[in-house]
Amino acid sequence: MPVSYLEKTKIFKLDAGDSTYVLRVADEGYLLGLYWGAKIPDADFEGYDLRDYASSFSPRNEIVGEGRFSPDVAPVEYSGFGTGDFRKTPAALRNADGNDATDFRYAGHRIHEGKRAPAGMPGLRADTPADCETLEIDMTDRTTGAALTLFYTVFKDEPVISRFAVLKNASDRPLEIEKLASASVQLNAMDFDFIHLYGRWGAERNYVRAPLAHGHQSISSTRGSSSHYHNPFAALAKHGADEESGEVYGFSLIYSGSFDITADVDYYETTRVNMGINPDGFLWHLEPGEVFETPEAVLVYSAEGLGGMSRAFHRLWLNRLIRGKYRTEKRPLLINSWEAAFFDFDADKLVSFAERAKEIGIDMLVMDDGWFGRRNDDRSSLGDWWVNEDKLEGGLGSLIERVNALGLKFGIWYEPEMISPDSDLFRAHPDWCLHVPNRPNSIARHQYVIDMSRKDVRDNLWEQINAVLSKYKIDYVKWDFNRNLTEAGSALLSAPRGEEIFHRFVLGTYELMGRLVDTYPDLLLENCSGGGGRFDPGMLYFSPQIWCSDNTDPVERLAIQFGTSLCYPASSMGAHVSMSRRAGFETKGNVAMWGTFGYELDPNRLGEKDLEIVKKQTADYHRYYELIHYGDLYRITDPWDNAYRCAWMFVSPDKAEALYTQVNMRYYHCPFLLVRFRGLDPAKNYTLEGTGKTYSGAFLMNAGLNLSECPRGDGSSFTLHFVRE
Ligand code: DGJ
Repeated sequence: MPVSYLEKTKIFKLDAGDSTYVLRVADEGYLLGLYWGAKIPDADFEGYDLRDYASSFSPRNEIVGEGRFSPDVAPVEYSGFGTGDFRKTPAALRNADGNDATDFRYAGHRIHEGKRAPAGMPGLRADTPADCETLEIDMTDRTTGAALTLFYTVFKDEPVISRFAVLKNASDRPLEIEKLASASVQLNAMDFDFIHLYGRWGAERNYVRAPLAHGHQSISSTRGSSSHYHNPFAALAKHGADEESGEVYGFSLIYSGSFDITADVDYYETTRVNMGINPDGFLWHLEPGEVFETPEAVLVYSAEGLGGMSRAFHRLWLNRLIRGKYRTEKRPLLINSWEAAFFDFDADKLVSFAERAKEIGIDMLVMDDGWFGRRNDDRSSLGDWWVNEDKLEGGLGSLIERVNALGLKFGIWYEPEMISPDSDLFRAHPDWCLHVPNRPNSIARHQYVIDMSRKDVRDNLWEQINAVLSKYKIDYVKWDFNRNLTEAGSALLSAPRGEEIFHRFVLGTYELMGRLVDTYPDLLLENCSGGGGRFDPGMLYFSPQIWCSDNTDPVERLAIQFGTSLCYPASSMGAHVSMSRRAGFETKGNVAMWGTFGYELDPNRLGEKDLEIVKKQTADYHRYYELIHYGDLYRITDPWDNAYRCAWMFVSPDKAEALYTQVNMRYYHCPFLLVRFRGLDPAKNYTLEGTGKTYSGAFLMNAGLNLSECPRGDGSSFTLHFVRE
């Protein structure tokens, strides 16, 4: 069984794939996090958590025991606030007496098969109940009566533990939650590098790696969405751990709102990681009997470096998070109208795209922003989701029929969470946007944010969206989100619940997205937020693919896609070939192929030569679809380590074939290039397509191939396809 409890020593042992996580209930009910790392068979942790307190400054409360225990230094698994543990806390509650002293102690536990997701939020699934086991540990704050349950789900064959926390106000007086993390993790060392992904519009998810030092290192969002700036993902890699070797601990939060991931190194040189909803801008009121649930956090252990961690996350999201038929079914190859026409289109222009797209081998036309209300630029009409028939003469039905008659599917764009001040909806309901009394609203991209916490607002949006989707044959929706939350208040939420708005906004969005995918299970949903500003597992649950970035330059895309791949699979990364100036169509295609692949250009502007390249690309899309969407990724040369080239490869799960891609960002002067491949079966032979030459997997991975004669010029690229004999 992956979860065991040893009554005598009060040890919980969680065996997840090739990793082990150990907890102990100590005297007075303190729950301690003893170990997380490579799998170990032992169950005897006698004395393992012994830590002498540093000085008489370490509070000891009522604990006597061997006289050495203090919450100041013990590896307290899920601590409180102001009661002897001075490190960053996962939890702080303001009680009816007006203080926020919080202290949780063990009260009981249950172990059962299967798992559930936190209420109203996306979460991991078990394929069958026997697939995983869940440990629920009950904790009590003896003074306030707050009852906390910590959920740990262990997936038998994967190095993954998922966690969330549920707090019930079991007292007869109100409580405020100031902070409640999804997970708090204790690591017995500080010799780690903190890795995370930072970015901005057009340059999302850049890789950052820096050694942990005493103090706190954190990433967060206060924007009401996970945001371009930081991704809700971090890793702690042992110094020296690289792509393929060394220990790496991965952390990811299944949440699309403001979050916080903090690593806190204490003076005992151990590290605590807390992750969850950002306590800045968060205060949740609980009346007696009310319950609050946190989002789900995911912990991944890898002894095979960053590559091992990434592949574990990729498999996990594909098998246990992403839902709907397009998790496993082949997705249509699409062309999107945005970079081809922006707001300047009519039905004939879109049909002309579809005609040429059909010749090229494309399966679906997506009509982006500009089809509704009176929207001819970004200054109006968000909220007015009725078809602009001045623009689409003959109506949407006629356009879709014309596109379908060519053999193409049809997709459409929405931005449901926004409202333009210049819209009929805003004129009718000026209080439907987020706002606070006596303070003017900030405007961004000429729009306000809709109050998604309100059911009446969501019902109106749903009526409008459903009126279109139920009437027309629409196969795909792109759901966009083009600003962050400011003046975050709701006309329906006042003190003491006013500050619940950030989280209620996210819950409201999840509820509306849930209605969409439940009502239209065959619809392909693609999330987007000014490019990849909300690329997180919460969104991935609803949409198997997310637009990665508005930057479609293939060279700049390399760093974006490399960074994104740390946590997210190729099948999730929206990537298109566009008219961007840099590099030729071969390279644009080779880069976009490391993603969902599609086009974002006017196909009538392609010259004869490019047209031929594009036709080959669409054939390659079908040829390599399975390999790229379900294969294992190996990053060979990273753009953050090498200024000249970067390279990656996909290997099919059965190791029967592999595709290596190399892109040269700049001319590479060195006349000697040897590349060693990864992930192959050393004992099998592979033929390099197009050469007839055969090599053993061992040769390809250890000796490598001399690629000195392959293209090296600025923006050039090539692929090598290996097939097992
Ligand atoms: C931002 C998206 O990232 C683009 O792809 C496009 O859909 C525009 N919004 C439309 O306004």
